[in-house]
Amino acid sequence: MRIRCLLLFVFAAIVTTPALAQVITLKFSHVVATDTPKGRAAEKFKQLAEAATKGRVKVELYPNSQLYRDGDELEALQRGAVHLLAPSVSKFGPLGIKEFEVFDLPYIIPDVQTAERIVDGEIGRRLLSRLESKGLKGLAYWDNGFKQVSANKPLRKPADFRGLKFRVQSSKVLSATFRQLGAMPQVMAFSEVYTALQQGVVDGAENPLSNLYTQKMYEVQKHLTISDHGYLVYAVIVNKKFWDGLPADIRAALEQAMQEASRYERTIAAQDNADALAAVKKAGTTEIYALSAAEKAQWREALAPVRKSFESSIGRELIQSVEAVAAQVAAEKKK
Ligand code: LMR
Repeated sequence: MRIRCLLLFVFAAIVTTPALAQVITLKFSHVVATDTPKGRAAEKFKQLAEAATKGRVKVELYPNSQLYRDGDELEALQRGAVHLLAPSVSKFGPLGIKEFEVFDLPYIIPDVQTAERIVDGEIGRRLLSRLESKGLKGLAYWDNGFKQVSANKPLRKPADFRGLKFRVQSSKVLSATFRQLGAMPQVMAFSEVYTALQQGVVDGAENPLSNLYTQKMYEVQKHLTISDHGYLVYAVIVNKKFWDGLPADIRAALEQAMQEASRYERTIAAQDNADALAAVKKAGTTEIYALSAAEKAQWREALAPVRKSFESSIGRELIQSVEAVAAQVAAEKKK
């Protein structure tokens, strides 16, 4: 009798607690440190998503290329081995989508307002929809502000780049940018940059300050130039089939959590980069030089041919619509 009762109890427990068997685990992999805008927004998403789904979803975070490096992570997402990524959009070229490289054109994004207006509007939506043919879906854009350049020699004028090897992300525009300056670009995974700089495999790199600081690149770079020559945009992406297969209520809760995490990311990016600059200054290993407006104009002019040469692959219309948003934001600022 006692055994029958026990069996009945176990059976009842199994049929009445399906939630236990249905926890959905989302693996979120990324390549940067946890104390960066992306790392902290990923943590925020985890918190919000788990709270909103009351334990039905568990988000596992794998920062710092722990699970996958650049390139490998996109492939892993396509085969469903990982569920969320937030790569820089400069890394979509190898998938066969070139339009995202519009963000890499030198000096095309003059300020954060322009970047936000573009990603929040029609251009941003259209670009994300291009991912669908690759089995991916874009949930949000995150922002990491301007990129700066570093090396072991001062970089003040375009000619200073001549003959130097620079690590770049896998974007044809970024390679062309450094070639235009007479430097030699080398595509390399983010996780390898510190060692490559340390061992002299490359002489320099470009990154927002939060990455330069948290990856300790400043320890192996004697000079840093605040050039604001490029802008780093991230897209949070999922495997489309996996996402569409989630229960509708879970998907809605996750989308809401993503929206909130994205708003949060925007509020911290600029401050994180400012804090990183202060920390690099304090470390005293790196001489920091900020380009004057006249020097920036010189760099912009030297790099102008890059924009022209990518009209056919990125699309002249897309480049012009980005320029139009920048002009509109500038006009509004003047008012
Ligand atoms: C890089 O590879 O340089 C960066 O895009 C890394 C990142 O995701 O911020």
